[in-house]
Amino acid sequence: MGKKLCLILTILVSTISWILVDSDNTTTPKPTLKPINAAFFDNVTIPMPVSANYRRIVEMTYGVKEEQIYRVCDGKNKKTCGFWENIETKAKVESGKTTYNKNKKALIIKKILRTDFGLYMTGNKKYEQKVNSLFLRG
Ligand SMILES: *[C@@H]1O[C@H](CO)[C@@H](O)[C@H](O)[C@H]1NC(C)=O
Ligand SMILES: *[C@@H]1O[C@H](CO)[C@@H](O)[C@H](O)[C@H]1NC(C)=O
Repeated sequence: MGKKLCLILTILVSTISWILVDSDNTTTPKPTLKPINAAFFDNVTIPMPVSANYRRIVEMTYGVKEEQIYRVCDGKNKKTCGFWENIETKAKVESGKTTYNKNKKALIIKKILRTDFGLYMTGNKKYEQKVNSLFLRG
């Protein structure tokens, strides 16, 4: 009796999780993708649609969130492209070397720093992707 029940429950649970995984796969809209988890100094690939610029909300100081902008280099913006900038102070911020790879359709951060974890978005904020630290709560 106990064994049978256990077996039935096991089958039920695995069936339900299959259904959940399946529907998750097909119905999850892009903006609610699972967070990317990375360790310090990893090279991180963040899938992002093509955009002239990207934004992120990060904590440079613990508990203080700030928004930063990254402009993709287009040949005409050499002085303002290729780095993260605090949108309020307009100061360049320290970060892992960031580039946008058009072939991979992804922002790539080399040697991610503690201060690079947070919420990444396209410039228009329509698409977002969380990047969490494996060791810190983001
Ligand atoms: C689930 O998603 C992956 C990657 O997006 C895809 O390769 C796979 O075919 C999908 N499976 C189903 C059952 O939709
Ligand atoms: C990150 O990329 C650099 C070269 O671009 C490589 O030397 C390094 O081993 C990579 N690090 C990891 C953790 O994959």
